[in-house]
Amino acid sequence: MLFAQRFIPDRKLHLFVISYLFFVALRSLFYELMNNKNFTIYLLRWNQESNHRMMPWKGESDPYKVWLSEIVLQQTRVEQGMAYYQNFVLAYPRVEDLAAAQEDEVMRLWQGLGYYTRARNLHFTAKDIVANYGGSFPKTYKDLLVLKGVGSYTAAAIASFVFKEKVAVVDGNVIRVLSRHFGIDDAFDIPAGKKIFEEKANALIDSDHPDKYNQAIMDFGATVCKPKNPICSSCPFQESCIAFKENRIGDLPFKSKRTKIKKRYFLAFLIDTKLGYPIQKRTQKDIWEALFELPLVEVPGFEKGIAQQVSSVFEAFSGIQTYDIEDLSEVYKQKLSHQDIYVVFAKIKPLADLKLSKEYLYTRNLTKFAFPKIFILYFRSKSLDLY
Ligand code: ADE
Repeated sequence: MLFAQRFIPDRKLHLFVISYLFFVALRSLFYELMNNKNFTIYLLRWNQESNHRMMPWKGESDPYKVWLSEIVLQQTRVEQGMAYYQNFVLAYPRVEDLAAAQEDEVMRLWQGLGYYTRARNLHFTAKDIVANYGGSFPKTYKDLLVLKGVGSYTAAAIASFVFKEKVAVVDGNVIRVLSRHFGIDDAFDIPAGKKIFEEKANALIDSDHPDKYNQAIMDFGATVCKPKNPICSSCPFQESCIAFKENRIGDLPFKSKRTKIKKRYFLAFLIDTKLGYPIQKRTQKDIWEALFELPLVEVPGFEKGIAQQVSSVFEAFSGIQTYDIEDLSEVYKQKLSHQDIYVVFAKIKPLADLKLSKEYLYTRNLTKFAFPKIFILYFRSKSLDLY
Protein backbone atom coordinates (compact mmCIF):
# COMPACT_ATOMS: atom_id res chain seq x y z
CA MET A 1 0.00 0.00 0.00
CA LEU A 2 2.79 2.41 1.00
CA PHE A 3 4.65 1.56 -2.20
CA ALA A 4 1.56 2.16 -4.33
CA GLN A 5 0.82 5.48 -2.61
CA ARG A 6 4.36 6.77 -3.02
CA PHE A 7 5.00 5.74 -6.62
CA ILE A 8 1.57 5.32 -8.14
CA PRO A 9 -0.67 7.74 -6.25
CA ASP A 10 -3.58 7.15 -8.50
CA ARG A 11 -5.22 3.77 -7.72
CA LYS A 12 -6.61 3.66 -11.23
CA LEU A 13 -3.13 3.95 -12.66
CA HIS A 14 -2.02 1.17 -10.34
CA LEU A 15 -4.74 -1.10 -11.67
CA PHE A 16 -3.85 -0.14 -15.22
CA VAL A 17 -0.18 -1.08 -14.81
CA ILE A 18 -1.05 -4.45 -13.30
CA SER A 19 -3.55 -5.20 -16.06
CA TYR A 20 -1.00 -4.19 -18.70
CA LEU A 21 1.68 -6.49 -17.27
CA PHE A 22 -0.83 -9.30 -17.12
CA PHE A 23 -1.77 -8.70 -20.74
CA VAL A 24 1.88 -8.72 -21.86
CA ALA A 25 2.50 -12.03 -20.05
CA LEU A 26 -0.63 -13.56 -21.52
CA ARG A 27 0.28 -12.38 -25.00
CA SER A 28 3.77 -13.88 -24.83
CA LEU A 29 2.29 -17.16 -23.56
CA PHE A 30 -0.16 -17.12 -26.45
CA TYR A 31 2.65 -16.48 -28.96
CA GLU A 32 4.70 -19.29 -27.46
CA LEU A 33 1.79 -21.70 -27.73
CA MET A 34 1.14 -20.65 -31.34
CA ASN A 35 4.81 -20.94 -32.12
CA ASN A 36 4.91 -24.46 -30.64
CA LYS A 37 1.75 -25.48 -32.44
CA ASN A 38 3.08 -24.20 -35.76
CA PHE A 39 6.37 -26.02 -35.27
CA THR A 40 4.56 -29.31 -34.69
CA ILE A 41 2.22 -28.81 -37.66
CA TYR A 42 5.11 -27.98 -40.01
CA LEU A 43 7.16 -30.89 -38.74
CA LEU A 44 4.35 -33.39 -39.28
CA ARG A 45 3.72 -31.91 -42.72
CA TRP A 46 7.41 -32.25 -43.59
CA ASN A 47 7.27 -35.84 -42.35
CA GLN A 48 4.33 -36.68 -44.58
CA GLU A 49 5.55 -34.90 -47.68
CA SER A 50 9.33 -35.12 -47.63
CA ASN A 51 10.54 -37.74 -45.19
CA HIS A 52 11.36 -40.84 -47.18
CA ARG A 53 13.75 -42.39 -44.70
CA MET A 54 13.11 -46.12 -44.69
CA MET A 55 14.01 -48.07 -41.57
CA PRO A 56 13.02 -51.65 -40.77
CA TRP A 57 11.77 -50.78 -37.29
CA LYS A 58 9.48 -47.94 -38.43
CA GLY A 59 5.89 -48.78 -37.57
CA GLU A 60 7.10 -51.85 -35.66
CA SER A 61 4.66 -52.90 -32.94
CA ASP A 62 6.84 -55.45 -31.16
CA PRO A 63 8.49 -53.70 -28.18
CA TYR A 64 11.37 -56.18 -28.28
CA LYS A 65 12.35 -55.09 -31.80
CA VAL A 66 11.91 -51.39 -31.05
CA TRP A 67 14.02 -51.76 -27.92
CA LEU A 68 16.68 -53.67 -29.89
CA SER A 69 16.79 -51.01 -32.62
CA GLU A 70 17.05 -48.16 -30.13
CA ILE A 71 19.88 -49.80 -28.17
CA VAL A 72 21.74 -50.48 -31.42
CA LEU A 73 21.23 -46.86 -32.53
CA GLN A 74 22.51 -45.21 -29.35
CA GLN A 75 25.74 -43.42 -30.31
CA THR A 76 25.51 -45.07 -33.74
CA ARG A 77 24.43 -43.73 -37.11
CA VAL A 78 21.37 -45.39 -38.64
CA GLU A 79 23.39 -46.42 -41.72
CA GLN A 80 25.87 -48.29 -39.54
CA GLY A 81 23.31 -49.75 -37.13
CA MET A 82 20.93 -51.15 -39.74
CA ALA A 83 22.91 -54.32 -40.54
CA TYR A 84 23.52 -55.02 -36.85
CA TYR A 85 19.83 -54.70 -36.09
CA GLN A 86 18.95 -57.07 -38.90
CA ASN A 87 21.57 -59.62 -37.83
CA PHE A 88 20.26 -59.55 -34.26
CA VAL A 89 16.64 -60.02 -35.34
CA LEU A 90 17.70 -62.90 -37.56
CA ALA A 91 19.75 -64.58 -34.83
CA TYR A 92 17.29 -63.82 -32.01
CA PRO A 93 13.77 -63.21 -33.36
CA ARG A 94 12.24 -63.13 -29.87
CA VAL A 95 13.40 -61.83 -26.53
CA GLU A 96 13.47 -65.45 -25.30
CA ASP A 97 16.05 -66.29 -28.00
CA LEU A 98 18.31 -63.44 -26.95
CA ALA A 99 17.91 -64.38 -23.28
CA ALA A 100 18.98 -67.96 -24.04
CA ALA A 101 22.11 -66.92 -26.00
CA GLN A 102 25.67 -67.19 -24.69
CA GLU A 103 27.28 -63.85 -23.81
CA ASP A 104 30.22 -64.51 -26.16
CA GLU A 105 27.83 -65.12 -29.02
CA VAL A 106 26.06 -61.79 -28.33
CA MET A 107 29.39 -59.96 -28.11
CA ARG A 108 30.50 -61.56 -31.37
CA LEU A 109 27.40 -60.23 -33.12
CA TRP A 110 27.96 -56.78 -31.59
CA GLN A 111 31.63 -56.71 -32.60
CA GLY A 112 32.61 -53.48 -34.36
CA LEU A 113 29.68 -51.42 -33.06
CA GLY A 114 31.56 -50.09 -30.02
CA TYR A 115 30.21 -49.06 -26.59
CA TYR A 116 30.12 -52.70 -25.55
CA THR A 117 28.30 -52.00 -22.27
CA ARG A 118 25.21 -51.69 -24.44
CA ALA A 119 25.58 -55.30 -25.58
CA ARG A 120 26.06 -56.60 -22.06
CA ASN A 121 23.03 -54.62 -20.82
CA LEU A 122 21.02 -55.83 -23.80
CA HIS A 123 21.69 -59.43 -22.86
CA PHE A 124 21.07 -58.78 -19.16
CA THR A 125 17.74 -57.08 -19.84
CA ALA A 126 16.55 -59.83 -22.21
CA LYS A 127 17.16 -62.34 -19.40
CA ASP A 128 15.42 -60.01 -16.92
CA ILE A 129 12.35 -59.67 -19.16
CA VAL A 130 12.06 -63.43 -19.52
CA ALA A 131 12.75 -64.23 -15.85
CA ASN A 132 10.81 -61.42 -14.17
CA TYR A 133 8.24 -60.06 -16.64
CA GLY A 134 6.95 -63.28 -18.23
CA GLY A 135 8.63 -62.32 -21.53
CA SER A 136 6.56 -59.11 -21.97
CA PHE A 137 8.00 -55.62 -21.89
CA PRO A 138 6.52 -53.04 -19.48
CA LYS A 139 4.04 -50.77 -21.26
CA THR A 140 4.67 -47.33 -19.79
CA TYR A 141 7.54 -44.85 -19.84
CA LYS A 142 7.86 -45.00 -16.05
CA ASP A 143 7.99 -48.80 -15.90
CA LEU A 144 10.36 -49.09 -18.87
CA LEU A 145 12.85 -46.81 -17.10
CA VAL A 146 13.42 -49.53 -14.49
CA LEU A 147 15.12 -51.80 -17.04
CA LYS A 148 18.92 -51.87 -17.12
CA GLY A 149 20.35 -49.94 -20.07
CA VAL A 150 17.04 -48.17 -20.67
CA GLY A 151 17.37 -44.44 -20.00
CA SER A 152 14.90 -41.64 -20.59
CA TYR A 153 15.56 -41.59 -24.34
CA THR A 154 15.01 -45.33 -24.93
CA ALA A 155 12.01 -45.50 -22.57
CA ALA A 156 10.37 -42.58 -24.42
CA ALA A 157 11.07 -44.18 -27.80
CA ILE A 158 9.50 -47.53 -26.83
CA ALA A 159 6.58 -45.96 -24.94
CA SER A 160 5.68 -43.63 -27.81
CA PHE A 161 6.43 -45.86 -30.82
CA VAL A 162 4.76 -48.99 -29.48
CA PHE A 163 2.29 -47.86 -26.82
CA LYS A 164 1.55 -44.37 -28.24
CA GLU A 165 2.29 -42.69 -24.92
CA LYS A 166 2.69 -38.92 -25.19
CA VAL A 167 6.30 -38.65 -24.05
CA ALA A 168 8.98 -36.89 -26.07
CA VAL A 169 12.32 -38.39 -27.05
CA VAL A 170 15.32 -36.16 -26.46
CA ASP A 171 18.46 -37.28 -28.26
CA GLY A 172 21.23 -35.39 -30.03
CA ASN A 173 19.05 -34.82 -33.09
CA VAL A 174 16.19 -33.39 -31.06
CA ILE A 175 18.46 -31.10 -29.04
CA ARG A 176 20.04 -29.76 -32.20
CA VAL A 177 16.70 -29.03 -33.90
CA LEU A 178 15.16 -27.39 -30.82
CA SER A 179 18.18 -25.33 -29.86
CA ARG A 180 18.50 -23.94 -33.37
CA HIS A 181 14.85 -23.39 -34.14
CA PHE A 182 13.94 -21.82 -30.79
CA GLY A 183 17.34 -20.23 -30.17
CA ILE A 184 17.86 -22.16 -26.91
CA ASP A 185 21.46 -21.60 -25.88
CA ASP A 186 21.41 -23.42 -22.53
CA ALA A 187 24.14 -26.06 -22.29
CA PHE A 188 22.58 -29.44 -23.02
CA ASP A 189 25.31 -31.42 -21.24
CA ILE A 190 24.34 -30.30 -17.73
CA PRO A 191 21.17 -31.48 -15.91
CA ALA A 192 19.52 -28.03 -15.81
CA GLY A 193 20.01 -27.58 -19.56
CA LYS A 194 18.86 -31.10 -20.36
CA LYS A 195 15.68 -30.39 -18.36
CA ILE A 196 14.95 -27.28 -20.45
CA PHE A 197 15.15 -29.35 -23.63
CA GLU A 198 12.97 -32.09 -22.17
CA GLU A 199 10.30 -29.57 -21.15
CA LYS A 200 10.35 -27.95 -24.55
CA ALA A 201 10.16 -31.30 -26.34
CA ASN A 202 7.21 -32.36 -24.19
CA ALA A 203 5.45 -29.05 -24.87
CA LEU A 204 5.78 -29.68 -28.61
CA ILE A 205 4.82 -33.34 -28.96
CA ASP A 206 1.63 -34.02 -30.88
CA SER A 207 -1.11 -35.52 -28.65
CA ASP A 208 -2.70 -37.60 -31.38
CA HIS A 209 0.49 -38.87 -33.01
CA PRO A 210 3.31 -38.92 -30.44
CA ASP A 211 4.98 -41.78 -32.34
CA LYS A 212 5.00 -39.95 -35.69
CA TYR A 213 6.13 -36.71 -34.06
CA ASN A 214 9.08 -38.37 -32.26
CA GLN A 215 10.22 -40.24 -35.33
CA ALA A 216 9.83 -37.13 -37.50
CA ILE A 217 11.96 -34.84 -35.33
CA MET A 218 14.78 -37.40 -35.19
CA ASP A 219 14.65 -37.93 -38.94
CA PHE A 220 14.53 -34.17 -39.50
CA GLY A 221 17.64 -33.70 -37.33
CA ALA A 222 19.45 -36.52 -39.11
CA THR A 223 18.65 -35.51 -42.68
CA VAL A 224 17.98 -31.71 -42.77
CA CYS A 225 19.09 -29.99 -39.55
CA LYS A 226 22.38 -31.93 -39.60
CA PRO A 227 25.32 -31.16 -37.28
CA LYS A 228 27.49 -30.08 -40.20
CA ASN A 229 26.20 -28.60 -43.46
CA PRO A 230 22.50 -28.45 -42.53
CA ILE A 231 20.24 -27.97 -45.54
CA CYS A 232 18.89 -24.56 -44.54
CA SER A 233 18.22 -23.53 -48.14
CA SER A 234 15.27 -25.91 -48.43
CA CYS A 235 14.30 -26.08 -44.76
CA PRO A 236 10.58 -25.60 -44.07
CA PHE A 237 11.47 -23.67 -40.90
CA GLN A 238 13.67 -21.08 -42.59
CA GLU A 239 11.38 -18.19 -41.59
CA SER A 240 10.88 -19.18 -37.97
CA CYS A 241 14.33 -20.59 -37.17
CA ILE A 242 16.08 -18.23 -34.75
CA ALA A 243 19.57 -19.62 -35.34
CA PHE A 244 19.13 -19.16 -39.08
CA LYS A 245 17.85 -15.58 -38.70
CA GLU A 246 20.65 -14.67 -36.30
CA ASN A 247 23.36 -16.55 -38.18
CA ARG A 248 24.05 -18.81 -35.19
CA ILE A 249 23.61 -22.25 -36.79
CA GLY A 250 27.26 -23.09 -36.17
CA ASP A 251 27.06 -22.06 -32.47
CA LEU A 252 24.04 -24.14 -31.50
CA PRO A 253 23.51 -26.41 -29.68
CA PHE A 254 25.81 -25.17 -26.95
CA LYS A 255 27.94 -27.57 -24.92
CA SER A 256 29.54 -26.40 -21.67
CA LYS A 257 32.30 -28.96 -21.23
CA ARG A 258 34.96 -29.92 -23.68
CA THR A 259 35.55 -33.66 -23.62
CA LYS A 260 39.07 -34.42 -22.49
CA ILE A 261 40.64 -37.06 -24.69
CA LYS A 262 43.15 -39.40 -23.10
CA LYS A 263 45.83 -41.04 -25.25
CA ARG A 264 46.70 -44.68 -24.49
CA TYR A 265 49.46 -46.83 -25.97
CA PHE A 266 49.59 -50.63 -26.12
CA LEU A 267 51.86 -53.39 -27.38
CA ALA A 268 49.94 -56.48 -28.51
CA PHE A 269 51.57 -59.87 -29.08
CA LEU A 270 50.43 -62.37 -31.67
CA ILE A 271 52.32 -65.35 -30.27
CA ASP A 272 52.59 -68.27 -32.62
CA THR A 273 52.65 -71.33 -30.32
CA LYS A 274 52.13 -75.00 -31.18
CA LEU A 275 48.66 -74.81 -29.63
CA GLY A 276 47.64 -71.67 -31.51
CA TYR A 277 47.57 -68.00 -30.57
CA PRO A 278 46.90 -67.22 -26.90
CA ILE A 279 43.93 -64.93 -26.35
CA GLN A 280 41.90 -63.97 -23.30
CA LYS A 281 38.64 -62.32 -22.40
CA ARG A 282 38.87 -58.84 -20.92
CA THR A 283 37.10 -58.73 -17.58
CA GLN A 284 38.37 -55.48 -16.05
CA LYS A 285 36.17 -52.36 -15.89
CA ASP A 286 37.87 -50.64 -18.77
CA ILE A 287 37.49 -50.22 -22.51
CA TRP A 288 36.48 -53.38 -24.39
CA GLU A 289 35.06 -55.18 -21.35
CA ALA A 290 33.93 -58.74 -22.26
CA LEU A 291 35.73 -58.68 -25.61
CA PHE A 292 38.77 -60.82 -26.37
CA GLU A 293 42.34 -59.58 -26.70
CA LEU A 294 45.77 -60.83 -27.65
CA PRO A 295 48.30 -60.54 -24.81
CA LEU A 296 48.33 -56.80 -24.36
CA VAL A 297 50.60 -54.52 -22.35
CA GLU A 298 49.91 -50.84 -21.81
CA VAL A 299 52.99 -48.61 -22.06
CA PRO A 300 53.45 -44.90 -21.31
CA GLY A 301 54.29 -44.23 -24.99
CA PHE A 302 56.15 -45.70 -27.94
CA GLU A 303 59.93 -45.31 -27.78
CA LYS A 304 62.14 -44.40 -30.72
CA GLY A 305 63.67 -47.86 -30.86
CA ILE A 306 60.34 -49.65 -30.81
CA ALA A 307 61.86 -53.10 -31.55
CA GLN A 308 63.95 -52.79 -28.39
CA GLN A 309 60.91 -51.69 -26.41
CA VAL A 310 58.87 -54.64 -27.76
CA SER A 311 61.64 -57.06 -26.73
CA SER A 312 61.96 -55.83 -23.19
CA VAL A 313 58.19 -55.62 -22.66
CA PHE A 314 57.68 -59.09 -24.15
CA GLU A 315 60.43 -60.61 -21.97
CA ALA A 316 58.95 -59.09 -18.83
CA PHE A 317 55.47 -60.27 -19.86
CA SER A 318 56.36 -63.84 -20.93
CA GLY A 319 59.40 -64.63 -18.81
CA ILE A 320 61.27 -66.10 -21.81
CA GLN A 321 64.42 -64.82 -23.46
CA THR A 322 64.52 -66.90 -26.65
CA TYR A 323 62.06 -65.92 -29.36
CA ASP A 324 61.94 -64.36 -32.80
CA ILE A 325 60.07 -61.17 -33.52
CA GLU A 326 58.82 -62.11 -36.97
CA ASP A 327 56.95 -58.96 -37.71
CA LEU A 328 56.25 -55.52 -36.24
CA SER A 329 53.22 -53.64 -37.41
CA GLU A 330 52.76 -49.96 -38.08
CA VAL A 331 50.94 -48.00 -35.36
CA TYR A 332 47.20 -48.78 -35.45
CA LYS A 333 44.86 -46.04 -34.19
CA GLN A 334 41.32 -46.11 -32.92
CA LYS A 335 39.29 -43.17 -31.65
CA LEU A 336 36.88 -43.96 -28.83
CA SER A 337 34.56 -41.37 -27.29
CA HIS A 338 37.04 -40.26 -24.58
CA GLN A 339 40.24 -42.01 -25.58
CA ASP A 340 42.58 -42.26 -28.52
CA ILE A 341 44.05 -45.75 -28.67
CA TYR A 342 47.38 -46.60 -30.29
CA VAL A 343 48.53 -50.20 -30.72
CA VAL A 344 51.67 -51.75 -32.20
CA PHE A 345 51.30 -55.47 -32.94
CA ALA A 346 54.25 -57.84 -32.81
CA LYS A 347 54.14 -61.34 -34.28
CA ILE A 348 56.36 -63.49 -32.12
CA LYS A 349 57.62 -67.07 -32.44
CA PRO A 350 58.72 -68.34 -29.02
CA LEU A 351 61.76 -70.65 -29.04
CA ALA A 352 61.27 -71.78 -25.45
CA ASP A 353 58.30 -73.07 -23.48
CA LEU A 354 55.83 -70.34 -22.81
CA LYS A 355 53.87 -70.52 -19.59
CA LEU A 356 51.05 -68.03 -19.51
CA SER A 357 48.35 -67.85 -16.87
CA LYS A 358 45.30 -70.14 -16.98
CA GLU A 359 43.11 -67.31 -18.29
CA TYR A 360 44.55 -67.65 -21.77
CA LEU A 361 42.99 -69.99 -24.29
CA TYR A 362 44.69 -71.00 -27.55
CA THR A 363 43.21 -70.79 -31.02
CA ARG A 364 44.05 -70.38 -34.69
CA ASN A 365 40.48 -69.43 -35.43
CA LEU A 366 40.58 -65.83 -34.17
CA THR A 367 37.44 -64.72 -35.98
CA LYS A 368 35.28 -67.02 -33.90
CA PHE A 369 35.76 -64.57 -31.01
CA ALA A 370 34.63 -60.99 -30.49
CA PHE A 371 37.66 -58.69 -30.66
CA PRO A 372 37.85 -54.88 -30.60
CA LYS A 373 37.85 -53.28 -34.02
CA ILE A 374 41.54 -52.36 -33.91
CA PHE A 375 42.45 -56.05 -33.55
CA ILE A 376 40.18 -57.02 -36.44
CA LEU A 377 41.92 -54.49 -38.68
CA TYR A 378 45.26 -56.04 -37.82
CA PHE A 379 43.97 -59.61 -38.36
CA ARG A 380 42.66 -58.55 -41.74
CA SER A 381 45.99 -57.08 -42.76
CA LYS A 382 47.64 -60.40 -41.86
CA SER A 383 44.86 -62.42 -43.54
CA LEU A 384 44.16 -64.01 -40.19
CA ASP A 385 40.43 -63.58 -40.64
CA LEU A 386 40.19 -65.97 -43.55
CA TYR A 387 39.20 -69.09 -41.63
N1 ADE B 1 18.28 -42.67 -33.75
C1 ADE B 1 17.92 -43.41 -32.71
N2 ADE B 1 16.70 -43.92 -32.87
C2 ADE B 1 16.28 -43.50 -34.05
C3 ADE B 1 15.09 -43.71 -34.76
N3 ADE B 1 14.10 -44.44 -34.29
N4 ADE B 1 15.01 -43.11 -35.93
C4 ADE B 1 16.00 -42.37 -36.41
N5 ADE B 1 17.13 -42.15 -35.79
C5 ADE B 1 17.27 -42.71 -34.61
